[in-house]
Amino acid sequence: MTSVGIDAIEVRTGKLRLDLAETFAPAQGEKPEKYTKGLGLYASSFPDVYEDIVTMGANAAHRLMDRKGLEPDDIGRIDVATESAFDNSKPVSTYIAGCLEQVYEDDFHHANKGERKFACISGTQSLDDAFNWIRAGRHRGRSAIVVATDTALYARDDPGEATQGAGAVAMLISEDPDLVELSTEQGYGSADETDFLKPQQQFPSVDGKRSVQVYLARMREAIEDYESVVGPIHPEDYALGPFHTPFPGMVRKAAALAFRHFTRDTEIEEQLAADIGRQPRREAFDSDDAFREAAGEYTDELTDTDRYREWYARCVDPTLELSREVGNWYTGSVHVARVSGLKAALENGENLTGGRMLVGSYGSGAQAEVHAETIQAGWAEEISALDLDEQLDARYDLSFAEYEDVHDVHNHDEDAGVTDVEGFTQPDAEFVFDGWGRMGERKYTYVE
Ligand code: CAA
Repeated sequence: MTSVGIDAIEVRTGKLRLDLAETFAPAQGEKPEKYTKGLGLYASSFPDVYEDIVTMGANAAHRLMDRKGLEPDDIGRIDVATESAFDNSKPVSTYIAGCLEQVYEDDFHHANKGERKFACISGTQSLDDAFNWIRAGRHRGRSAIVVATDTALYARDDPGEATQGAGAVAMLISEDPDLVELSTEQGYGSADETDFLKPQQQFPSVDGKRSVQVYLARMREAIEDYESVVGPIHPEDYALGPFHTPFPGMVRKAAALAFRHFTRDTEIEEQLAADIGRQPRREAFDSDDAFREAAGEYTDELTDTDRYREWYARCVDPTLELSREVGNWYTGSVHVARVSGLKAALENGENLTGGRMLVGSYGSGAQAEVHAETIQAGWAEEISALDLDEQLDARYDLSFAEYEDVHDVHNHDEDAGVTDVEGFTQPDAEFVFDGWGRMGERKYTYVE
């Protein structure tokens, strides 16, 4: 069967940076350790005044096309995944295509464009759509571009404010990909939940503590569903486990539960039994509560073992490095985790060709999806072509007062009054937001 997957990735961060430990925590009257140790976050990315979901997405897609030597005729599909859209009818992909048409001679008039919505999981759903389109043979030899782009802002003083971020990931989906091949096998965990939603409002209504539990419950279902297709997962089966990362502390919780699940009835459980006993089994307890308490105690001891720490350091921690510096990018977050893991492996001189990743996506509302990706021979070349470190280093460091202004600029209810805030950085060979048109549409220009 045709191999289909991600041929190339580009990542575009918002050009501003808020230091959470040094700038945000003191202003909120909180200890820096809540961010650095508890949530696992050091900084958030924010869009400058001339950036938004369209500019970040278009700039990522432009670099992707240029780097791969593509013209509009090579692209048969442009899908955008976002939960920060500003229009209920016209999809963001039309704006992004419009931007790209300013810099290419040809157009995208024969490309199918759309927008996917299911909170943070819609980036992965768009990958599915592209995969299925190619596998169905409807692509006429062309590739698809998937852009996951978000300005993940919360209302001021909402607990979620600690986890904000902004950026875009553009992915090229093709036959015989250079980066990763996607598995046909998938697992889903999906239920009608009200943990995080935006009913006709820009900033989310969030039940933060519950959202953490819903993430864990749906991810567990997705893993079990995936195992019903491929058989039990062993922790050594996968080189990396990129998961949706609203903040690294979330993945730390998910990883502990996943490792406990993966090692049940394996030689690892037997080897650890002398030190921490065997895993509690439900049938040995009178109530769910008693079982949950015992399972929690076992998990705490498990995460203290060398075996767990070695697995976590190898498979999970590398996937969180970028998230620590940029915050939550919603739809882009799991795709940032994939890049983060591969980038760390490249920097450590590891050869991952032929290795597999277990990818876990999640969207509030709520749905989790798990699939595998096989790392292709071109992965190191693809990852070394990224300019991510340069982008991160070039970000402008915001003071708290500047952060307050920037938050207002991107607040749809307030921006009319604060558009006089000057940009903090200079546009350089990129698409910028350029005001509103006569029908209320947003307008964009390419600045040399
Ligand atoms: N030193 C060390 N650790 C500290 C600390 C200190 N001084 N102070 C606090 N901490 C730890 C806490 O113990 C806690 O860790 P544990 O959960 O492991 O105990 C962590 O820091 C966070 O502290 P709080 O729980 O007190 O933080 P909070 O209540 O202010 O907010 C939150 C946490 C609920 C996750 C909030 O950030 C939030 O609402 N975030 C948005 C929702 C979210 O991201 N949910 C995740 C699942 S939903 C999803 O994944 C979709 C999505 O992208 C939104």
